[in-house]
Amino acid sequence: MPGCHLDLFFIIFGLQLPFFSSCPINCVCYPSPMTVSCQAHNFGAIPEGIPEISERIFLQNNQITTLLRGHFSPSLVTLWLYSNNITFIDPATFEGFDNLEELDLGDNRYLRALSADTFQGLSRLHALYLYKCGLSSLPTGVFSGLHSLQFLYLQDNHIEFLQDDIFIDLVNLSHLFLHGNKLWSLHQNTFRGLVNLDRLLIHQNQLQWVNKYAFHDLKRLTTLFLFNNSLAELQGECLAHLSALEFLRLNGNPWDCGCKARSLWEWLRRFRGSSSNVICESPDGMEGRDLKHLGAEDFMHCLSSESLHQIKTHTYSTTHQIAHKGHHSHHSSKEKGKDLDLGLHQNEPAAPPDPRPGSRKPGKNCTSHKNRNRISKTQLGKSMHDLQDYVPDYHHKFNFDTVPTASTKRKAKCTRRTPNRVPSGVQQAAGNRCDGVRVSLLLFLLVLAVIVR
Ligand SMILES: *[C@@H]1O[C@H](CO)[C@@H](O)[C@H](O)[C@H]1NC(C)=O
Ligand SMILES: *[C@@H]1O[C@H](CO)[C@@H](O)[C@H](O)[C@H]1NC(C)=O
Ligand SMILES: *[C@@H]1O[C@H](CO)[C@@H](O)[C@H](O)[C@H]1NC(C)=O
Ligand SMILES: *[C@@H]1O[C@H](CO)[C@@H](O)[C@H](O)[C@H]1NC(C)=O
Repeated sequence: MPGCHLDLFFIIFGLQLPFFSSCPINCVCYPSPMTVSCQAHNFGAIPEGIPEISERIFLQNNQITTLLRGHFSPSLVTLWLYSNNITFIDPATFEGFDNLEELDLGDNRYLRALSADTFQGLSRLHALYLYKCGLSSLPTGVFSGLHSLQFLYLQDNHIEFLQDDIFIDLVNLSHLFLHGNKLWSLHQNTFRGLVNLDRLLIHQNQLQWVNKYAFHDLKRLTTLFLFNNSLAELQGECLAHLSALEFLRLNGNPWDCGCKARSLWEWLRRFRGSSSNVICESPDGMEGRDLKHLGAEDFMHCLSSESLHQIKTHTYSTTHQIAHKGHHSHHSSKEKGKDLDLGLHQNEPAAPPDPRPGSRKPGKNCTSHKNRNRISKTQLGKSMHDLQDYVPDYHHKFNFDTVPTASTKRKAKCTRRTPNRVPSGVQQAAGNRCDGVRVSLLLFLLVLAVIVR
């Protein structure tokens, strides 16, 4: 309804309302809360005359290139700048913006770099959009102090590496979108501190290895997407930290379903949520099979002298008489009931957040081959028994060849959100709902008329 916009424009400017005298040309302004809407007008720079008291500013779909200190004022709560051509953000642009809650800088492909101070002090910020910004790295500390942040969109950049603890202050983060980047590894402390994370999307990267403890803090994670990466191996122990997990996608990776896949296979068999297929690419003879549908017999040959030795140490360590030290010490934490109970066993320690003091391989990662062949006869027996109740019928409920609805929404939200993300009271700004506008305008004009008299 483009006519709507025009009506509004003529009414406001035609009457020359004193309150709107400072509304920028080609923008539309609304009071309480003060809102300035300037989207899609080919602005090459932040327009002059934005009222200081503005709380919402919509500047998306223009050609704005730089953001400088003084362009906006600290009363700002919501700022949309997506789909511009921002190449530079002065690190002081948002200094002291205590009220800022939502900052959308997405789809500014030439941005490429951020200063570490850019978001400093934005303690109320709850959504930060940086998707499609051509970022190849993130400066250390760029998210520090963002204690209120709940949504962080970093997808579709060129990020290759995430420093340890880069998200450490984001205690309230719920959604972290990192898909469509160039990440190739996840470290032990990459995600440290994300204790409230609900959804972690890292699909469409180049992940080759994931540290065994990479997910140790993600106790509330319900959704993990790792599809379309380069993972040949992922230890079940990695996933065992994720006690709230419900949706897992691992498809589109070159899975090696040899003996080293057994811990993942075991974990998948116990997993009660829904998971994608896990199609094997190797070894010979396994290609095209789904790891989830392999049986205990497929891992039978993995029982070697090493694992027989482990059965002994298992018995030994669970008697709590002595801490097993020696050549195979790095296996001991797993044997303390974890393989069977995934850390839920009351008397046994859950998956340790850090390597044990006695661990010989603190840097060991999930692509390590050290833990193959660990399965006991009891486990095999239990596995066979469990197999019947397992094989859940999730295929009907969730089709994992398509992205689940929730994230489709979220993803769509990132690229074209105006229609379904209009803040209450500013329907006008999106230009897609006019009835409410007309009514409130009429009321407003009535009040004005009274005042003028
Ligand atoms: C956006 O900025 C880049 C870098 O300054 C420039 O090369 C490009 O032409 C600009 N794009 C548009 C559409 O103005
Ligand atoms: C996290 O969010 C809750 C509620 O949204 C808030 O009460 C709490 O203060 C936030 N935590 C921090 C550290 O800001
Ligand atoms: C995985 O990536 C390939 C190539 O990049 C693409 O064709 C395919 O659609 C992707 N798969 C999914 C499930 O997105
Ligand atoms: C992780 O394991 C893989 C395969 O064994 C190895 O290539 C890689 O270097 C290891 N990375 C670390 C940090 O240990």
